[in-house]
Amino acid sequence: MFTASAPGRVNLIGEHIDYNGGMVLPAALAIGLEVDLEPRAGDVVTIRADHYEEAAKRQMDESANGHWSDPALGAVLQARSMGLLSGGADLAIRSTIPEGSGLSSSAALIVAILKAARAAGADGNRPDPSDTEIAVAARAVENDFMGVPCGIMDQMAVALAAPGTAMALNTKTLTHSIVDLPRSHGVVVVHSGRTRRLTDGRYAALKEECDTAKAHFGTDDLCLLDPAEIARSNLAEPYRRRAYHCATEHRRVLSAIAALQAQDIPALGRAMNDSHISMRDDFEMSLPAIDTLVADACELGAKGARLTGGGFGGCIVAVVDKTRQDAWLSQLLDRHSGARFIGAV
Ligand code: GLA
Repeated sequence: MFTASAPGRVNLIGEHIDYNGGMVLPAALAIGLEVDLEPRAGDVVTIRADHYEEAAKRQMDESANGHWSDPALGAVLQARSMGLLSGGADLAIRSTIPEGSGLSSSAALIVAILKAARAAGADGNRPDPSDTEIAVAARAVENDFMGVPCGIMDQMAVALAAPGTAMALNTKTLTHSIVDLPRSHGVVVVHSGRTRRLTDGRYAALKEECDTAKAHFGTDDLCLLDPAEIARSNLAEPYRRRAYHCATEHRRVLSAIAALQAQDIPALGRAMNDSHISMRDDFEMSLPAIDTLVADACELGAKGARLTGGGFGGCIVAVVDKTRQDAWLSQLLDRHSGARFIGAV
């Protein structure tokens, strides 16, 4: 049996720009998942997960059909196409990452299965795929098997990020560096109580709007355009606002990285707060309940707070003075009965 694990991730800043040529700043969380993989002959994949009562039995010629086991089946198919498995597999999954929360449960599952398959398939005759190659292959499962046109951020974060640090990732070149998190402040993740799925079509709709903007400007990299040029262009709405978010968000990520390097928490907080406004108004990926949660997080003393992940639900991330974190959290949860604490890094 081969066992591998992957963490959940939170994105500190840089939303919906990993498919628009931008920089992003995710961090690994303490929650995560672990997969046991036992290769088996034939074309069957069995999948047991501690958070689902019924086990799944899938055939390898099946397509994704909306079942919870789709990412696992897709990962096994991908492992087979990479030559890491020759038949099917029996999988057992143990997870502490809530699904539908924007914390990359799907990316973590696919990456963990590919890492377990890498261990199973190691034969000394060919080099094992690197963690970056695993991340790229995991994205292909989402894009091609699941039909989710996501970027590379989640897969790179869960395949490579070191716990307790953030990863400054150039999503175009995949070069990355480690950035220390604030010493004096916690990065706190709070679930809004609203769940969402990347497969529900809204993520894809935003991606298509970005594609329209890319065609207008004749570039793949909206993030590298000058925001002023976007503002004065004759591109129709909402495409212009979508592009404007990408270009300004990329610059906010660069400011946040510089702020973290200088341990300048107020500057980090400003970048996060501005990011939330841009996601709310220009990218239109927030919900009124999440705007209120973010506003209350700041009113109660967070230096910065924003929605994190794909949008339309899931979690917020806030930067809070460590000495005040417990009091801040209980006050915030008192105001929002549907919200819950996920973790802090
Ligand atoms: C999801 C996707 C990522 C990224 C974020 C938004 O998590 O999987 O690729 O686009 O949404 O930043």
